[in-house]
Amino acid sequence: MTRVLVPRVNGLCYGGDYNPEQWPEEVWAEDAKLMREAGVNLATVGVFAWSALEPAPGRYEFGWLDRVLDLLHGAGVAVDLATATASPPPWFSHRYPESLPVDADGRRLTYGSRQAFCPSSPAYRQAALALAGALADRYHDHPALAMWHVHNEYGCHNPRCYCDVSAAAFRDWLRDRYRDLATLNEAWGTAFWSQRYTGWEQVQPPRTTTTTPNPTHLLDFQRFCSDALLALFKAERDLLHRRSPGVPVTTNLMATGNFAVLDYWRWAPEMTGKDRLVSMDHYIVPGDPVAPPAAQVAYGADRTRSLAGGPWLLMEHSTSALSWRPYNPAKPPGQLIRDSLSHVARGSEGALFFQWRASRYGGEKWHSAMVPHAGTDSKIWREVVTLGGHLQRLAEVRGATVRAQVAILFDHESAWASDGPSQPSAEMSAVPEIRRWHAALWRMGVTADFAHPAHDLSRYHLVLVPSLYLIDDAAAANLHRYAAAGGTLVIGPYSGIADERDHVRLGGYPGAFRDLLGVYVDEFFPLPPGGTVSLDSGATGRVWTEHARAEAGTTVLASYADGPVANCPAITRRSVGAGTAYYLGTRLADADLAALLASAGAQPALPGAPPGLEAVRRAHDDGRSYLFLLNHAGADAVVPASGVDLLTGATWPDRVTVPAGGVVVLRE
Ligand code: GAL
Repeated sequence: MTRVLVPRVNGLCYGGDYNPEQWPEEVWAEDAKLMREAGVNLATVGVFAWSALEPAPGRYEFGWLDRVLDLLHGAGVAVDLATATASPPPWFSHRYPESLPVDADGRRLTYGSRQAFCPSSPAYRQAALALAGALADRYHDHPALAMWHVHNEYGCHNPRCYCDVSAAAFRDWLRDRYRDLATLNEAWGTAFWSQRYTGWEQVQPPRTTTTTPNPTHLLDFQRFCSDALLALFKAERDLLHRRSPGVPVTTNLMATGNFAVLDYWRWAPEMTGKDRLVSMDHYIVPGDPVAPPAAQVAYGADRTRSLAGGPWLLMEHSTSALSWRPYNPAKPPGQLIRDSLSHVARGSEGALFFQWRASRYGGEKWHSAMVPHAGTDSKIWREVVTLGGHLQRLAEVRGATVRAQVAILFDHESAWASDGPSQPSAEMSAVPEIRRWHAALWRMGVTADFAHPAHDLSRYHLVLVPSLYLIDDAAAANLHRYAAAGGTLVIGPYSGIADERDHVRLGGYPGAFRDLLGVYVDEFFPLPPGGTVSLDSGATGRVWTEHARAEAGTTVLASYADGPVANCPAITRRSVGAGTAYYLGTRLADADLAALLASAGAQPALPGAPPGLEAVRRAHDDGRSYLFLLNHAGADAVVPASGVDLLTGATWPDRVTVPAGGVVVLRE
């Protein structure tokens, strides 16, 4: 049976962050009228309203929020009610100065912005839970309440705190993991540079030190910091489940761009299942060197869908320009709608924005919104109204899922470790490389999921491993089993190198995958910045090469034609049981990577689609299927597909014309 994420809302969700506390009450009535006009059915209220809700310790002022919720309810707008715990007010930080976060250099940061608290602070936790509890008690049966929005973007500004309170919490976390100091010393390799600990009190967060810090110390601190914020989420979530039962709970993740500070694979199980949903915020990086804007949208959506294991909700994106980058381009006409519908194509149950009405003051006054400074006589407002209509016409898509045949492995711990200090090449960062492989698939029109190396991968024809430096024995065995059972693996360089303690696997690289791949490497030969090598297949390698040999039974598909390891194998293939494992010993240039992925079996959703035409399918379990066609190019595209366009009602018998910059959603 299809699971409805937000039962209070009929069809797809549409709306955004609504911050009425920034406006006089006269404006609220206009807001409600305009929301109706745009087809808004969900507003996220109160995200940064702590100081308005609790102006003094324990003194709650809910009158204004009562009026806002009543007004919205009267206008047919449901509410995603925030617990407002993302930004403690000045009175709180002033009263509990020890709750302010401390950076690695020992500087205590001050308030005056947002998220200025230490994740391990008992005072913060207590005050946040008290506020969330008071809100739950007051609004749990308000007819406008559709869902709870815990906090906001955990870890956006305060992912790590190095204060003494955090130090004590870190030691508790380490005691849980290692039980005794001898095991910790072994795991951290503290025989190196005389780092051996002889008392727990000596163990500190990895504060700034003289030179290269201990990599496993850093890695464990990153694991701890992710868990510390997750504990805060779970505490608020459990309180809401108790005091507002039956109302879905979420927090907005940031599974986008290079952000990988929280281990979302550990968060996802806490956000799925009964009365929970996964939501995500997405902001495009202008001029990103790895992926064009539309591919960035696809990446965030595909990652979030994979975390959710099905439909999810786009909690925030922008109608046009951001305000927090050095250069903040506006979206050209049509992009607002394409971006939103691309998220929907990839499993979002709607589209919400930051924010409803553009602020007049404050640090985000130049951020676009659904109601811009100019008001309704604007390009943005006209597109907002059009999008509202589109989403209403797409209501039947709700609950449909995207089924990908390709998975890309993403492991936060591995990414943290390979970004650790003193690497063979600082250019071997994992996340940008994972994004590059995803972008290659996007250009090919291939829909991909993301997965963790320990997941059951059996439903995928093809599993890609762009960069997986660190892997434990169980996950390595999982990948071996996947290939042996008939799957195809493509593994990129600097993978399988270290175990979960970041200890190098000995006896030749790529350690954990040496037998699987039938490749033996005795030395890495990273290229100088910007350097390339030629392969005898005509392909180009970048960043990395290695002195390798192929073992008996391994086919060499390409060798280096020049560079420091000329004649060594660069690309290999080996049969593994009923399946196949490819190895790339270098980072192939974009076009060569795409060619390799195609030959390994990556299939586009719509063969024959022209470049710039994004095609993604969402289908219900009963077989009803929808083909989203998004034309990012400047010319109309004619593609081989048929069905009824839900947006216009037009029937296309065998070929569809998707206008330049436009979108068609076919009921197939
Ligand atoms: C998000 C945040 C919003 C707003 C937005 C601006 O990170 O959740 O509150 O700041 O960015 O792009």
